[in-house]
Amino acid sequence: MRPSDPRDQLIVALDAPELDRAERLVAAIGDAARFYKIGMELAYGGGLALAPKLAASGKRVFVDLKLHDIPNTVERATAQIARLGATFLTVHAYPQTMRAAKAGAKGSRLKLLAVSVLTSSDDADLAEAGYAYGVAELVERRARQAVAAGIDGLVCSPAEAAKIRAVVGGALLLVTPGVRPAGAAASDQKRVATPAAAIADGADYLVVGRPITQDPDPRAAAERIVAEIAGAHSPSPREAGRGLG
Ligand code: C5P
Repeated sequence: MRPSDPRDQLIVALDAPELDRAERLVAAIGDAARFYKIGMELAYGGGLALAPKLAASGKRVFVDLKLHDIPNTVERATAQIARLGATFLTVHAYPQTMRAAKAGAKGSRLKLLAVSVLTSSDDADLAEAGYAYGVAELVERRARQAVAAGIDGLVCSPAEAAKIRAVVGGALLLVTPGVRPAGAAASDQKRVATPAAAIADGADYLVVGRPITQDPDPRAAAERIVAEIAGAHSPSPREAGRGLG
């Protein structure tokens, strides 16, 4: 399930307020990356139009809109996103929502990723929202429910990857944001890992935004991260670098 070419494991988060800036970034990165994530900021700024363009140019597209609504709406929205030529779409890991998205993706190449628990939530946030479970239990419960619903993968923090991998084995793709090359600023990410550590802990794809998009040379920054991923495929990846904080 994990791509064999490290270059295919990097997903660049195109977090930009409008289409022009996103298109300039894609041009600057060139063939250093093959997979782009369009999130809410860009999508609601007209950036969803970039999805079919990227797909037509041979790039892969991750639409990160974290769907969650009544099943009919989720199913129909998922079908629309499949028509854009996207490869990945995120939905919240509620069983009803995951089943509806699965129905909407039927017959397309779209793969579904479930967001188990937002990494901005801790146990107190879940209790405040009325949940009976803490983060660790809820992540595990939803990982199992994602497998049962036929979901393709999970978005999780690098800190959770090894534990989820132990629960679901090879049944799900693991996609991790919060990745920082050694020495890079963590910015607002609280739990970060190096590319090598995330891969060693079982991540299949790494989502990286600012360390590439805010670098004066985004192409070189992407190349460096691909090189770090490639290094993690060596025989003892656990020695290749651990989390930064
Ligand atoms: O700039 P940075 O590398 O922190 O960007 C990470 C990307 O992954 C952003 O688009 C962010 O919204 C997304 N993301 C995240 N943490 C999650 C889920 C998504 O950082 N738990």
